Amino acid sequence: MKNQNSSKATNTIAGINDLETLLRIEEEMARYPLYHTFTKGEFRKYLSESKSTTFLLYLDNKIAGYCSFKRKNKDLAEIEGMAILEKFRHKGLGTYAMTIMLEKLKDCKEIMLVTHPENNNSLRLYLKFGFVIKEWKDNYFGKEPRLALWKIKRSK
Ligand SMILES: CC(C)(COP(=O)(O)OP(=O)(O)OC[C@H]1O[C@@H](n2cnc3c(N)ncnc32)[C@H](O)[C@@H]1OP(=O)(O)O)[C@@H](O)C(=O)NCCC(=O)NCCS
Repeated sequence: MKNQNSSKATNTIAGINDLETLLRIEEEMARYPLYHTFTKGEFRKYLSESKSTTFLLYLDNKIAGYCSFKRKNKDLAEIEGMAILEKFRHKGLGTYAMTIMLEKLKDCKEIMLVTHPENNNSLRLYLKFGFVIKEWKDNYFGKEPRLALWKIKRSK
């Protein structure tokens, strides 16, 4: 990790038993206007789907956030969750989360995600990993707009 002290980032794959922990993270995210949170029912369903994977993220064994993706089909996956608790931000954890998800998705030709057009922290992170902005979507979550970003691997 990009850290002066030797903080250690780790992860576990979350299951249904982690639902309450994940909802506590969502509760903090709900204070952040550019972030769309899962409801309890949505998260329960998401965790039970075989095509989705959710990682709990830790910094020095403390819960620091989560990230998740879903395989839409053989070639396409969508990153749907990326949430680092405020006190653990800017320590490289978002970068760590993207690295572990992209490693799991290395066989995937296309990866997409959406983010709020003013969510500069997330946009910087995604652009750093080679995502490109493809589309503006009005009214994506109710009245909220979103940018769709794609990472497309070209065959050599
Ligand atoms: C977007 C988000 C996931 C980024 O997470 P993060 O853990 O802060 O990400 P990183 O630390 O890897 O990178 C963020 C910045 O910190 C910098 N950074 C990384 N390690 C650092 C360190 N040790 N010291 C100082 N800065 C550091 C990175 O360089 C990066 O800055 P840059 O993009 O200008 O280069 C986080 O802000 C978040 O959860 N936001 C709220 C939820 C949200 O909006 N999610 C995305 C929805 S689409």
